[in-house]
Amino acid sequence: MQSVTLKAGGGYEAVIGAGVIDQAPRVLGRRARIAVVTQALVAGHHGDTLRRSLGGTDATVEFFEIPEGEEAKSLHCVEDLCGRWARGGLSRRDAVVGLGGGVVGDVAGFAAAVYHRGVDVLHIPTTLLAQVDSSIGGKTGVNLREGKNLVGAFHQPVGVLADIDTLATLPTSDFRSGLGEVAKYAFLGGSDAQEVATILDCEHDAVLSRDPQLLERLVSACVAIKAAVVDADEREATGDRAVLNYGHTLGHALEADAGYTLRHGEAVATGLVFAAELAHAMGRIDAIGVERHRRLVASLGLPTEVPEGAEASALIAHMRRDKKAAGGLTFVLDGPAGPELVSDPPHEAMARALVAVGVRAGGSGVRRLIPWRRSSCCPGRTSTSSVRVSPRSTATPTSMLSSTSPARLHPSTATTSSTCSPITKVRWSTQSRARVDGVRPWSSTRAR
Ligand SMILES: NC(=O)c1ccc[n+]([C@@H]2O[C@H](COP(=O)([O-])OP(=O)(O)OC[C@H]3O[C@@H](n4cnc5c(N)ncnc54)[C@H](O)[C@@H]3O)[C@@H](O)[C@H]2O)c1
Ligand SMILES: [Zn+2]
Repeated sequence: MQSVTLKAGGGYEAVIGAGVIDQAPRVLGRRARIAVVTQALVAGHHGDTLRRSLGGTDATVEFFEIPEGEEAKSLHCVEDLCGRWARGGLSRRDAVVGLGGGVVGDVAGFAAAVYHRGVDVLHIPTTLLAQVDSSIGGKTGVNLREGKNLVGAFHQPVGVLADIDTLATLPTSDFRSGLGEVAKYAFLGGSDAQEVATILDCEHDAVLSRDPQLLERLVSACVAIKAAVVDADEREATGDRAVLNYGHTLGHALEADAGYTLRHGEAVATGLVFAAELAHAMGRIDAIGVERHRRLVASLGLPTEVPEGAEASALIAHMRRDKKAAGGLTFVLDGPAGPELVSDPPHEAMARALVAVGVRAGGSGVRRLIPWRRSSCCPGRTSTSSVRVSPRSTATPTSMLSSTSPARLHPSTATTSSTCSPITKVRWSTQSRARVDGVRPWSSTRAR
């Protein structure tokens, strides 16, 4: 078992390990009532474990099931929950527990944030994505027809119990999608990122077979990275939290373009490869850096190319709506000083990077992106502006990378030499999720 302490909110602990659901009574303390928000599927697998654990307390425990998917992230669902809590007498001194993935966490967290102007919430994340990302940092929210995550609140939990045992029942596609988010952390720099990179590079078979001890190490390292970023910028005031959006600009665009039928982590995985290609086209990282991204993503069974038929013009329109972009195009890109915000990359670099991840070059798409022939993406000759967002602010972004001295030699670099087997093309998951037509892309400020 491992734990990571956050300063955010009143300060809380994220506990990671097999069987840590049992710690719910300790974290919650004495309560008269506990409202558990979950989904039927999750409750079927893990509800009894939580019931048994809370059975040792004096509290009256009641389970509240919400529907599956983005449709559940609605004000209607929050109103329904709050109404049922009020009828059941849930008071401000009682507690809410979110048992489930990111959808449950967002709904339970937001309902807890607004019920009686704020009641304590404990997150028990049961998807890999929720354990490494959404349960940490206090962001909660629901969708409007006008956009995803448009209504929300910062509401830090009283604790997070990331029980590795729950990941055993997660469908393969959801587990793999979570690995897309995990892969992001491998590129963020620092010792915990190095730990993530080492585990993914050297032990990815054990990761894919969900070895509990390895997952505990992996989730803990990701949580430590997210916790450090959240503590530095709890309410997204300084922009430091933007580094967590590495790979997300194209990722979000792919999701929106497909009506949210894609899995988030798969879209982010392709977004990571795109970000590496773009950074390379701008002379910010070398070819080895790109290869490292491609190999890591592919080794986890995640796609390195966009879904068939993705059009440049549509993706760019979506990316312009990204919350970081303010009308232009803004990406988190790797470089000599680590990941940083880069605005309005040269058109030719954009075109090269889009083609490199399989966006169609024909028609009005990529070609329109190249209004001039002369290269504007050589090292040192870009007119691009950049803002540091990495916590590793001591590095100087002066010289561009040479192929022999990449800025950050993670252990993963060792396994990305040319002796490795060729990268095999990975298919996207079957798009089994319902299309969410009412929910448009992040035209405003609450995208994640
Ligand atoms: N608040 C944040 O900071 C933040 C960050 C990232 C993502 N999110 C949000 O998270 C959501 C996505 O979360 P997700 O990927 O966890 O999806 P999800 O919550 O929809 O869960 C995926 C599926 O797995 C099932 N499931 C969950 N745990 C299971 C288990 N242990 N065993 C078997 N089935 C299980 C769920 O019922 C669901 O069908 C999005 O709405 C996104 O906006 C929020
Ligand atoms: Zn994400």
